[in-house]
Amino acid sequence: MVADRNFVILGHRAHTAPDWKLDDLCGGGGRLDVLMRCVTAAMWVSHGLRRDTDAWLLLSGPPAPPVAVHFCGASVRYLNPDERSTAALVRNGLVKLRNRASVEASPGVTLHRVGLEELLARLPPAVLLDETGDTTEFPAAPLTIVLGDDRDPTGEERAALASAPRVQLGDRSLLSSACITLAHHQMDSV
Ligand SMILES: C[S@@+](CC[C@H](N)C(=O)[O-])C[C@H]1O[C@@H](n2cnc3c(N)ncnc32)[C@H](O)[C@@H]1O
Repeated sequence: MVADRNFVILGHRAHTAPDWKLDDLCGGGGRLDVLMRCVTAAMWVSHGLRRDTDAWLLLSGPPAPPVAVHFCGASVRYLNPDERSTAALVRNGLVKLRNRASVEASPGVTLHRVGLEELLARLPPAVLLDETGDTTEFPAAPLTIVLGDDRDPTGEERAALASAPRVQLGDRSLLSSACITLAHHQMDSV
């Protein structure tokens, strides 16, 4: 089942093997700290989960990219709002994935060896979050919202998103997790 709201976060250096420590998400993990904050912003409200929302982390770092980590709001269990325990779910998934094409790491958390183009083909129509975007409005759900980690999308990623509207949340460059909170707020207010 496809969620009403899907967030795809492009993890440009995020490692695709469990060769990092939970104490070093920022360095050894390739800015996995940014991605974990995005999962919390996408999935959590105070004291509960958004069951209509999925988060997809697209890991593009070494040694075997790409890997997409899917958090399914409708079925996820054992997800907590802190970075470290979310990273532990991802780490366990990478341990289980090994040479497989996909694996369920824990209930509602699955890993798949798919890239951006294939992922976009499986999900509802996409918009790209971009501080130079040409609109401030989100289309109606179901939709897919794509954003960068601490770096903007590459030329190749932009090409895969060429037909997607570019939505801006003001002209200041914001943290990715803050963009997700603002996007939810805007869509919640309709
Ligand atoms: C931390 S920013 C990326 C780096 C930033 N552009 C820079 O180099 O200063 C992460 C992502 O959040 C999204 N983003 C940040 N600010 C935004 C804004 N004002 N409107 C829409 N999207 C934004 C974009 O997708 C961006 O790639």
